[in-house]
Amino acid sequence: MKGQERFLKLSAVVLSVLFISTFQGAHGQVEVIPVGPTLVNALAGSNVTLAVSFSGASDPVVTWSKDDQPVVTWTINSSSPADIANGSSNVLRIENNGSLTFKDVPKRFTGIYKVEFTKSGLGKVLATFTLNIFERIQNVTLSTQPAFAQEGAERFTLQYSMLQGVVEQQTWRFNGKELQNGTRYLIQGSSLVIFGPKRTDEGTYSVLLENPFSSVTTHINVTVLYGPDEPIVEPLSVQPFYKAGDSLLFLCRAEGFPQPTIEWVFGGRTVSDFHQGVLNLTNVQTNQGGVYTCSVFNELTEKKLEKNITLNIYEKPLGNPLCSVTSVNNADLQYQCRWAGGTPQARLSFPALSNTSSGAGTFSLTVTASNNFDEKTLICLASHPLEQNTCNVTASGPIHFIPIVKTTIDPDGKTVVTIHCVSEASPQAVVSWSRGDEAVLDGLAYQISSDTTQLKIRSYNISTFLLTPNFTCTCRNPLGSQQKQVQLLGPSISDSSLFPNQDGTIITLTWEVPPTSIVTGFDIQMKGPNLPSNNGAKGSSNKYNIIQQKPGSARSADVFSLDPDLTYRFRIIPKARLYDGEPSEVHTVGPGEGLSGPAIAGIAAGIPCSILVLILLIGLIFLIFHIRKKRSYQTRYPVSRAVEKVKNMQHNTAPHNNGVLRSPPDYNRLHQTPSERSVTLPTFVPPPPVRVATTV
Ligand SMILES: *[C@@H]1O[C@H](CO)[C@@H](O)[C@H](O)[C@H]1NC(C)=O
Ligand SMILES: *[C@@H]1O[C@H](CO)[C@@H](O)[C@H](O)[C@H]1NC(C)=O
Ligand SMILES: *[C@@H]1O[C@H](CO)[C@@H](O)[C@H](O)[C@H]1NC(C)=O
Ligand SMILES: *[C@@H]1O[C@H](CO)[C@@H](O)[C@H](O)[C@H]1NC(C)=O
Ligand SMILES: *[C@@H]1O[C@H](CO)[C@@H](O)[C@H](O)[C@H]1NC(C)=O
Ligand SMILES: *[C@@H]1O[C@H](CO)[C@@H](O)[C@H](O)[C@H]1NC(C)=O
Ligand SMILES: *[C@@H]1O[C@H](CO)[C@@H](O)[C@H](O)[C@H]1NC(C)=O
Ligand SMILES: *[C@@H]1O[C@H](CO)[C@@H](O)[C@H](O)[C@H]1NC(C)=O
Ligand SMILES: *[C@@H]1O[C@H](CO)[C@@H](O)[C@H](O)[C@H]1NC(C)=O
Ligand SMILES: *[C@@H]1O[C@H](CO)[C@@H](O)[C@H](O)[C@H]1NC(C)=O
Ligand SMILES: *[C@@H]1O[C@H](CO)[C@@H](O)[C@H](O)[C@H]1NC(C)=O
Ligand SMILES: *[C@@H]1O[C@H](CO)[C@@H](O)[C@H](O)[C@H]1NC(C)=O
Repeated sequence: MKGQERFLKLSAVVLSVLFISTFQGAHGQVEVIPVGPTLVNALAGSNVTLAVSFSGASDPVVTWSKDDQPVVTWTINSSSPADIANGSSNVLRIENNGSLTFKDVPKRFTGIYKVEFTKSGLGKVLATFTLNIFERIQNVTLSTQPAFAQEGAERFTLQYSMLQGVVEQQTWRFNGKELQNGTRYLIQGSSLVIFGPKRTDEGTYSVLLENPFSSVTTHINVTVLYGPDEPIVEPLSVQPFYKAGDSLLFLCRAEGFPQPTIEWVFGGRTVSDFHQGVLNLTNVQTNQGGVYTCSVFNELTEKKLEKNITLNIYEKPLGNPLCSVTSVNNADLQYQCRWAGGTPQARLSFPALSNTSSGAGTFSLTVTASNNFDEKTLICLASHPLEQNTCNVTASGPIHFIPIVKTTIDPDGKTVVTIHCVSEASPQAVVSWSRGDEAVLDGLAYQISSDTTQLKIRSYNISTFLLTPNFTCTCRNPLGSQQKQVQLLGPSISDSSLFPNQDGTIITLTWEVPPTSIVTGFDIQMKGPNLPSNNGAKGSSNKYNIIQQKPGSARSADVFSLDPDLTYRFRIIPKARLYDGEPSEVHTVGPGEGLSGPAIAGIAAGIPCSILVLILLIGLIFLIFHIRKKRSYQTRYPVSRAVEKVKNMQHNTAPHNNGVLRSPPDYNRLHQTPSERSVTLPTFVPPPPVRVATTV
């Protein structure tokens, strides 16, 4: 109370100026003087007196009014009670000297009070007081609107509220620094408005609320939601491409509050591992290439940002590029280059053909065939980010070739003759077949293989094959053609030989057939003493008997158990099914050898020449005859390399007791390479103008 009184006195000195005294009437004998200050601050619930003293008149009527409404009227020293406004009688009391006392004053009595002293005939005087009733400030709380400050929002408002109290002055501070009205802040009413809050506005805000009787400071910590900021991917540089099998590690991060959730998305699926923002790819495959999106999301602001990186994962195509050349309509050449697989596909081109066009994975270019392309090697450049490669291809026209004839018997018993015409060429040559002027077409009588290189002729009657005209095969590709005539021959033997073993108990017969001869089998015939195997019967035969039969593929036969002291004659009969061809020459083995076949033929040939000459030169002939006999025994036939080989082998081996021959001559080789043989090849006439059979 003492402090309060001192405050009242101090105020009186300063604010006495506000005192207004109005003198009305002609004489002005009534005077009123406020005692103490006219500005009175009081705490709610205390006792307050607005004190006045008057002079100049006795028992005037005193009227107190609040905000121009009379609240108390009394005549001084009157016995009747003062007239006090409704609802104020328990608070207001008027003193005998006219002062107004408030008892346990409530807050609502704040206002401007005027007092009037009136005495009839003496006029009236007036004094004015200002009464402020304060409450202590209590239970102040700060709230925010909206609940979280968000960077980029238009405004953010802090507001205080309290259980009770009258605020005379408010002071807002941010991290201790006082805030003023301005472009960033507005202090209005009970609130502080922050315009365009930023992340730097985060911190401790306080408000100091003051009145003459109390002051309260209240703090609030404000956090500002922000972000996510633009995501940053590390490493910053993404390589142009990676190899399949590589391991990649990328980190994505972004600033924000609260810390944004970060995930990597690829093909609509989340691929980050449990570490936020880590993209850890081990042993990547090509299907993992593409756009990876780092997506950052602030759960509170619901703001989302993305950053894309593109991963190219490459893989080399399999193997090596392959070049080829094919024929288009037998007129154009289509050069092809192919290198399949890989990511991306390899880029292929034939720079020598075109420097502008290229293909991916496979590429082909068609050119009109000309001699420029014959034997010309074209290179295909195959370019892949992981490897440069090439392949090449050389086109060439058909080259010289020799037709091959094979004879078989089909299950119906028909003889089947197959003619192969294969000429090396690139692109592969297409073969057209004709007989004389007639094109041979695929059908019942003739069957042409799908690659056209084989012609099969079937017949029961061997004559069918041997009839003229000859067959012609023409091998053709866009770069040229080669033609051959095939004259089929009946079963025949072109060359034959006999090889005895050292003891003279075993002989080996070998023979050859002309390449175009039709043979399905061979009869080995013998004339002479019966063989022990021949029922063990002793005796001899004056005509040839069949001792062995061999298939068409056979080119040798062994005859065992010969008596070295006896003489045998052998010959080979080529056969085409039932039809027998000309027998081979006769081979004789044994001591009692007479005239050999050729010798007799030689003599026979000499007779027609001139009997005279024969008589005159008979002595000479006898001489020649003796010489020839000796020669023919040693080198009657040309000795092939294979024969030498057999002989050498026989020399090297120890004499065999059981009579079994080792290592017979390499007949397979002899058979398979007729061109190397010393046999007479069929003579080919120059190709007559043949209407080309079109093979469809
Ligand atoms: C105010 O006055 C009344 C009597 O008039 C007294 O009982 C009361 O204690 C006073 N209050 C204070 C706060 O002085
Ligand atoms: C006060 O109350 C009385 C009766 O309750 C009423 O007659 C009178 O008019 C009131 N006076 C004022 C000023 O309200
Ligand atoms: C008026 O009367 C009251 C109570 O009787 C007293 O406290 C006050 O001091 C008086 N004022 C003056 C100026 O005498
Ligand atoms: C006001 O604050 C006081 C202490 O500061 C506390 O005891 C009281 O419960 C609070 N009142 C309300 C209504 O919160
Ligand atoms: C700030 O400005 C507003 C409106 O212009 C005004 O109402 C308020 O009183 C001012 N506050 C301060 C502390 O100057
Ligand atoms: C505000 O934050 C500071 C430090 O961060 C802390 O010491 C203080 O207690 C917090 N105040 C409130 C009201 O949360
Ligand atoms: C990536 O993943 C592999 C296997 O999944 C693991 O061995 C490696 O430690 C991971 N790297 C990082 C940086 O997490
Ligand atoms: C990222 O890639 C996705 C999918 O390819 C696409 O939808 C999105 O627009 C891209 N975002 C940006 C920022 O390029
Ligand atoms: C492409 O080839 C043509 C002739 O084939 C030649 O004139 C031209 O210069 C070539 N261009 C390039 C870019 O090599
Ligand atoms: C063609 O390719 C073969 C192997 O594919 C290679 O040996 C040869 O050197 C190549 N020729 C050219 C002219 O590149
Ligand atoms: C075989 O064909 C020829 C000529 O076509 C013919 O003369 C002969 O009679 C035929 N032989 C048989 C057994 O049909
Ligand atoms: C059949 O061809 C042979 C040589 O291959 C030839 O001597 C013969 O004259 C040809 N016959 C016909 C009718 O062209």
